[in-house]
Amino acid sequence: IENVQIAPSILSADFAKLGEEVRDVEQGGADWIHVDAMDGRFVPNLTLGPIIVEAIRPHTKLPLDVHLMIVEPEKYVPAFAKAGADFITVHAEVCPHLHRVVHQIKESGAKAGVALNPATSLSCIEEILDDVDLILIMTVNPGFGGQRFIESMTDKISRLREQLNARGRRDVFIEVDGGITADTAPLAVKAGANVLVAGSAVYGAHDRAAAIQAIRRAAAV
Ligand code: DX5
Ligand code: ZN
Repeated sequence: IENVQIAPSILSADFAKLGEEVRDVEQGGADWIHVDAMDGRFVPNLTLGPIIVEAIRPHTKLPLDVHLMIVEPEKYVPAFAKAGADFITVHAEVCPHLHRVVHQIKESGAKAGVALNPATSLSCIEEILDDVDLILIMTVNPGFGGQRFIESMTDKISRLREQLNARGRRDVFIEVDGGITADTAPLAVKAGANVLVAGSAVYGAHDRAAAIQAIRRAAAV
């Protein structure tokens, strides 16, 4: 099995000392830093914008994986890219012109991801699978950290992995986000995920290195 990337979500970090929090998980063995932008419209919560991405950028060499849970994401793609985002992921549910947005992200210099809520069908991304760098399968309804992993999403992950294999796109990341712990990580990885976002399971732990290690061990299935 290929390498699994662990992406701690700063949503569950202490926002009063984000630089330190990001350095802490980098030293603790994280692979990517997951940054959740929420607008209070697509999801019932508000978090951050490009200014925060810019502020944490000098604190880590790790890829910044920016998850936009916002309507009209095309308005903010250039600003997030300029702020230092390496991956920019938009939700299919808010992009009537998804092909255009995916290419806008790539032209901005970032890698392009598309996220699907639990109830959104894989058929929404079928026609752009050849254009993306990453697909994010939400394993909770987005908006908050600390929710329970929706186990039925493992079947969706498996079907996506099959579709990507059939197209010879083994390079596309399948990311899972929501409720990932050392208990649920193996389910997601067995199904075909290779990027694991973990918010509360990492930042809620005293010893972040141990928490990352525990997820990595459990995911080595
Ligand atoms: C949820 C966010 C997640 C969140 C995950 O809407 O997209 O990235 O931080 O938190 P946990 O890992 O606690 O479920
Ligand atoms: Zn997220």
